[in-house]
Amino acid sequence: MDSVPEKWSWKHSFLYLSFIYAILYLFHIHIAHKLLLGNEPVRVKRSPDLPLRFRHDGTFKILQVADMHYGNGLMTRCRDVLETEFEHCTDLNTTRFLERMIRAERPDFIAFTGDNIFGPSSADAAESLFGAFRPAIESGLPWAAVLGNHDQESTMTREELMSFISLMDYSVSQTYPSAEDSFFHAKGSMVTNIDGFGNYNIEVHGAQSSHLANSSILNLFFLDSGDRAVVQGIRTYGWIKESQLKWLEGVARRFQVTR
Ligand SMILES: *[C@@H]1O[C@H](CO)[C@@H](O)[C@H](O)[C@H]1NC(C)=O
Ligand SMILES: *[C@@H]1O[C@H](CO)[C@@H](O)[C@H](O)[C@H]1NC(C)=O
Repeated sequence: MDSVPEKWSWKHSFLYLSFIYAILYLFHIHIAHKLLLGNEPVRVKRSPDLPLRFRHDGTFKILQVADMHYGNGLMTRCRDVLETEFEHCTDLNTTRFLERMIRAERPDFIAFTGDNIFGPSSADAAESLFGAFRPAIESGLPWAAVLGNHDQESTMTREELMSFISLMDYSVSQTYPSAEDSFFHAKGSMVTNIDGFGNYNIEVHGAQSSHLANSSILNLFFLDSGDRAVVQGIRTYGWIKESQLKWLEGVARRFQVTR
C-alpha cells in the first residue's frame, strides 16, 4: 500500500530538481553575466584616420561651429527667435541644423570654437557635451573643440571638460599639447606648464601618395582663450597668455622651411 505514494514522491522530487536545475541554467545563460561587475566589454574610443590629409584635388574643408550654447536638449528652448517660433524650437534644432550642414558640405574636419555648451542651463555637462557634439560623432568625421567662457559654468572644470572631450569618439582634441611639439620635453609626455586647457596643434599632411604625403603642410593651432577674469577690479574676459604664445612660436619655428 505504501509503495505507490513513495514512487510518486520520488517522481516529484525528480521533477522538482529538474525544475530547479532548469531555472539555474536559464539564470546562468541569460542573467548572471549581466550581474557581474566589471565584465562589460571594454569600450575603446573610436579614432579617425590620422594624420589628417588634404584631398587629391588640393582642398581641405573645415566646418567651424561656434557658440552652440547647448543645454539640456529637448528641454532647453531657443533664444532670440520670434515669439511664434519659441514653442517649437529647442536645442534639437541646433542638432538638426548641424546635421544638415555636415551633409551639405561634407567637410574634412569640424572645429568647435567655444561656448559649445551653456553651463547655466546645463544640468549635467557630460550629457550636454554628448548632445552638442553628437552630429560630429555620428558623422565619423574628425573633429576638435576648444572652450569658451560658458562651457565650464556647469558640473565640470575646464580641465575635466577638455579631458572628456578628448576622449569622445572621432575627437582629435587634446587637453595639453603633446611633447613632440616641444623642444624641451621627452617624447610621449605632455606639456603641462602653459596656461589653460585645450592648447594643441593639429597637423594636416599632403594628399596620400603625393610628394608631401609625409609632411605637415597646414597646422591648426587651438588655444585656450580663458574664462572670465578680473583686472584691476574690472570684470572682463580672459586672454591668451605669454606661456601659450611661447609654445606656439616654438612649434611654428620647427615647421619653418630651412633653406
Ligand atoms: C525647429 O524644429 C522644428 C521641428 O523640425 C520645426 O518645426 C521648427 O520650425 C524649428 N524652429 C526653427 C526656429 O527653426
Ligand atoms: C611616406 O612614408 C611612407 C611610409 O613610411 C613611404 O612609403 C612613402 O614613400 C613616403 N612618401 C614620401 C613622399 O616621402
